[in-house]
Amino acid sequence: MKQTAMVADTPSHECSIQYSVFCDDNLPFTCRSGESVLAAMERHNLKPIKVGCRGGGCGVCRVKVTSGNYLVGSISRAHVSVEEQAEGYELACQVYPQGDLQIAFCGPKKKVSETTSGED
Ligand code: FES
Repeated sequence: MKQTAMVADTPSHECSIQYSVFCDDNLPFTCRSGESVLAAMERHNLKPIKVGCRGGGCGVCRVKVTSGNYLVGSISRAHVSVEEQAEGYELACQVYPQGDLQIAFCGPKKKVSETTSGED
């Protein structure tokens, strides 16, 4: 069951607990307690997600969490709305697993001008 809650501050980087993150068809990777999913991917030299601001502001690391418990840090609502977040969309740089997670890569949210051609 998904659990989301805003974290007040950047979590500490305790390394005693590790969780597995399963993503699409890739091999799972480990994420340390207090480490974001994006930081864990960078630590493992995995590059299926673009890395931008690392602070929840640019939206390039958008993923969909399909199962697992996690906490989220501060994110820009321009990139993940409340409704989208309720469906599991998150920014990987602000997802802190509290157990094993299953995620899917989404890429940045498309702007309205990018989703319609206007030539119908
Ligand atoms: S890297 Fe910018 S929102 Fe995640």
